Amino acid sequence: MRILKVLLAAVLIQTVFSLECITGSLRQDKLQIGYQPITVEQCDTNVTACFSFYHNDGTHFTYKLGCDISGLCLTSNGCSLTADPGRQCCCDTSSCVYQNATQPLTFSLPSNFAFSTATAAYQIEGGAFADGKGPSIWDIYTRKPNKIRNNDTGDIACDSYNQWEKDIQNIKDLHINEYRFSISWTRVLPYGTNDVVNQKGVDYYNKILDALNSANINPVVTIFHWDLPQAFQERGGFLNPNIIELYGNYSRFLFQTFGSKVQKWVTINEPLSIVKYEYCGEAVIHAPGEFREHCDWMVYQAGHNILLCHSKAAEIYNNEFRATQNGQIGITISGTWMFPESASKDDTDACERGYQFDWGWWANPVFNGSADFLGVNYYRSLKARNRNSDEYTWFSGYKLALDSGIVTDYDPNWEIISWISVVPQGLRSLLNKFKTEYGNKPILITENGIMDTENDIGFQDNTRIRYLRGHLAAISQAINEDGVNVIGYTLWSLMDNFEWTDGYSTKFGIYSVDFNSPNRTRVAKASATFYKNIINSKIVPGFSTIGDE
Ligand SMILES: *[C@@H]1O[C@H](CO)[C@@H](O)[C@H](O)[C@H]1NC(C)=O
Ligand SMILES: *[C@@H]1O[C@H](CO)[C@@H](O)[C@H](O)[C@H]1NC(C)=O
Ligand SMILES: *[C@@H]1O[C@H](CO)[C@@H](O)[C@H](O)[C@H]1NC(C)=O
Ligand SMILES: *[C@@H]1O[C@H](CO)[C@@H](O)[C@H](O)[C@H]1NC(C)=O
Ligand SMILES: *[C@@H]1O[C@H](CO)[C@@H](O)[C@H](O)[C@H]1NC(C)=O
Ligand SMILES: *[C@@H]1O[C@H](CO)[C@@H](O)[C@H](O)[C@H]1NC(C)=O
Repeated sequence: MRILKVLLAAVLIQTVFSLECITGSLRQDKLQIGYQPITVEQCDTNVTACFSFYHNDGTHFTYKLGCDISGLCLTSNGCSLTADPGRQCCCDTSSCVYQNATQPLTFSLPSNFAFSTATAAYQIEGGAFADGKGPSIWDIYTRKPNKIRNNDTGDIACDSYNQWEKDIQNIKDLHINEYRFSISWTRVLPYGTNDVVNQKGVDYYNKILDALNSANINPVVTIFHWDLPQAFQERGGFLNPNIIELYGNYSRFLFQTFGSKVQKWVTINEPLSIVKYEYCGEAVIHAPGEFREHCDWMVYQAGHNILLCHSKAAEIYNNEFRATQNGQIGITISGTWMFPESASKDDTDACERGYQFDWGWWANPVFNGSADFLGVNYYRSLKARNRNSDEYTWFSGYKLALDSGIVTDYDPNWEIISWISVVPQGLRSLLNKFKTEYGNKPILITENGIMDTENDIGFQDNTRIRYLRGHLAAISQAINEDGVNVIGYTLWSLMDNFEWTDGYSTKFGIYSVDFNSPNRTRVAKASATFYKNIINSKIVPGFSTIGDE
């Protein structure tokens, strides 16, 4: 019997539980989780119920035991099962007793949950100039010196244009039931407009869709994942409102050509990244890379037109295709979750502004009728605080950070890997925020994942396994404990690929790709097996399994 008194910071209590008199918590070492026999918490004399829950920080699950004066001890012995399988909480008038943690902690996912992985056309296909494909802004941008690490290009990438059958086999081996990929606009319409169709490009996507459908794997097709036709970039790209009609025509072409084989469409991938990295000041690191000036208005003009592109595609789908094709259409948005640096109103207000700048900008208008589901890409959290008006900081060239009036940073207690912070609790909080903001509409996680680190030796990518486990457990908690309507999870990425400005040096895949071999040989990493086991069992293992760290 061991009691550990810990003062709980209010910020930790983000769950839906009504824990009104928590006075302590129990922290367990990760390899012991699931085997702690018993702990006792002293409560108010009037305690009527006990709760246990756990805080998932991605590395540890921290157990909390609490007394609740609003609940009731319903069973005759005064005990109730907790959210942790195989555990009980028992209460009497003065204490809560947490018993029998004899099983490893696990987290379940629904039987009809969608498990998926994602890729994007420019990042994997190669065949950049093959068989009549027209140039996209990334084909042009990667030819410029010193824009991409090692001057890498996507000319060959994973060579999926030729090796797509290997990809399909790897997808089948994972036992996923969905696969998210994007269509290269200029592979099917070389100049962006519908008057010239590249039949070989159409054939390529038909082969992939047919192979997925015959394997009972549901295709989730991203209409636009950043590779804008160069022909239209020269007319202003997303700054030119003609993009709305052009994109509408392209969407209609895809619905007409592939719609009978596709049940889920994603209109646009990460509008925030498009405006931030293509159209804004010093942050311009993505193709076309020409818009350093006039960021003041460009970022908002581009964002406005992107939203209208989305609604144009949704309108076309609803009016012309929904009745016969009966699919769903959504958008994929991205950003960070922000925890307030202090409990002050200034800082919590700053986080709310941060949320609206990252997520609300896109989600608010879209959920007034033009989306069946919200696609969410989550990788990291940040700490945020209010920015003083006279404060000059490094981000002053970043229009959106400046306008939102917030200063963000990493929490030194978090595990930080490159630009990613490992904070599953941030994902859970974000999902809860969506639930309250948008009436619990279906949420599809369309990307989540992490790059290999130097600690990942060979194909044993333990960092990724730990990251996946923490985030899938957080999703399980959001579904089962918070009632959030999460319909599926998409792991970024199926395989190592062209990681934009990082070229091939940053590897997000659960399959490795040998970019030194002309064959671009794919080999499963340990995380592929880990993910497959979760898919087969619908159970996310806790931190009790020795050997997977
Ligand atoms: C215990 O709580 C109940 C319900 O809130 C209240 O009616 C009762 O007076 C309390 N008893 C004591 C001894 O505080
Ligand atoms: C708790 O442990 C006792 C004795 O070890 C056992 O009889 C009981 O079945 C256990 N309860 C649960 C819920 O595992
Ligand atoms: C990239 O290309 C430029 C121009 O050819 C060259 O100066 C530079 O050294 C190259 N960088 C690398 C890492 O090869
Ligand atoms: C969209 O398609 C229509 C019908 O084919 C065509 O008249 C129009 O010019 C197209 N718009 C753009 C921007 O290409
Ligand atoms: C939806 O539209 C209505 C009316 O314009 C507006 O009041 C409401 O705030 C909108 N909801 C969202 C989530 O943007
Ligand atoms: C590439 O694949 C071919 C055909 O399977 C094989 O003969 C060759 O050895 C492979 N080359 C490398 C470098 O793996």
